[in-house]
Amino acid sequence: MSTVLSIGNLGVRFFGGDTRPAVDGVSLEIEKGEIFGIVGESGSGKSTLANAVMGLLPANATVSGSIRLNGHELVGLGEDELRRMRGVDMSMIFQDASASLDPVWPVGDQIAETVRAHRAVSRREARLRAIELMDEVGIPDATARYRSVPHRFSGGMRQRIVIAAALANNPGLLIADEPTTALDVTIQAQVLQLIDRLRHQHGTTVLLITHDLGVVSQVCDRVAVMYGGGLLELAKTADLFARPNHPYTRALLAANPSGAPRQSRLPVIPAEWSVESLEQSERLRADASRTAQEVANG
Ligand SMILES: Nc1ncnc2c1ncn2[C@@H]1O[C@H](COP(=O)(O)OP(=O)(O)OP(=O)(O)O)[C@@H](O)[C@H]1O
Ligand SMILES: [Mg+2]
Repeated sequence: MSTVLSIGNLGVRFFGGDTRPAVDGVSLEIEKGEIFGIVGESGSGKSTLANAVMGLLPANATVSGSIRLNGHELVGLGEDELRRMRGVDMSMIFQDASASLDPVWPVGDQIAETVRAHRAVSRREARLRAIELMDEVGIPDATARYRSVPHRFSGGMRQRIVIAAALANNPGLLIADEPTTALDVTIQAQVLQLIDRLRHQHGTTVLLITHDLGVVSQVCDRVAVMYGGGLLELAKTADLFARPNHPYTRALLAANPSGAPRQSRLPVIPAEWSVESLEQSERLRADASRTAQEVANG
């Protein structure tokens, strides 16, 4: 197996934000073709981590540590180089599909434009590729729907279009930040199945970010639990559900009725901890730092 993404002791701080880092000493490696989940409550640093990999952090962020994609260091790369890599070597699906599509532009053209941004192909070739992609992600009658604008599609179909655009240039790494949060459960399952099928077909490596343990159990091979910017635990998905190591992970699973991961959502720190015991949450944070250090030190 080859490592696609290798993150070493990653730290992200926001100038003018919280005094604590948003990402704190995170180390992990993602292997080719796997779906790696990052699960964590709101504010735990998941999107910050994803944006750091994509080189999409705002100007007030400072990054320390290392992010290697196929062996190439990304931290410190210039915007031009990152722009060339985005969409080709790595691509990202954002939570809100509607927000990443232009509302007045035919969806097919939006996908075709992504193709043309990175490849010297004719308009016609890009158009055919866009139709092929729409077909592949399960848009019925893709040729006829090429010219439809986003609001003519349901939420689930719009998310498929966003996925098609993200996959337009066969990126080696696909980062999906809460790709199904806005969707109802049935559509959510279909979109997850789609991501799973696409990685099998194309060998795409997927970093899937979610606060939903159900999503993790459905498609992730391995999962890391993030808390307060650090990693508390990293395990194979089946092992995490069967034998959670960390008390926080156990609490998350316990908060999840009948142990059935489907549809469950992460609470923002179990109430008895957040309200009654700040100390508890400080200890978790210290644990997260320590675990990160241990992982970093091998
Ligand atoms: N641009 C920014 N400036 C200052 N602080 C920020 C910025 N973006 C994120 N943060 C802070 O970084 C921390 C992590 O935020 P992040 O968005 O990564 O969390 P998350 O795990 O993705 O949460 P959610 O599940 O709600 O999407 C939070 O404390 C947040 O307030
Ligand atoms: Mg987020």
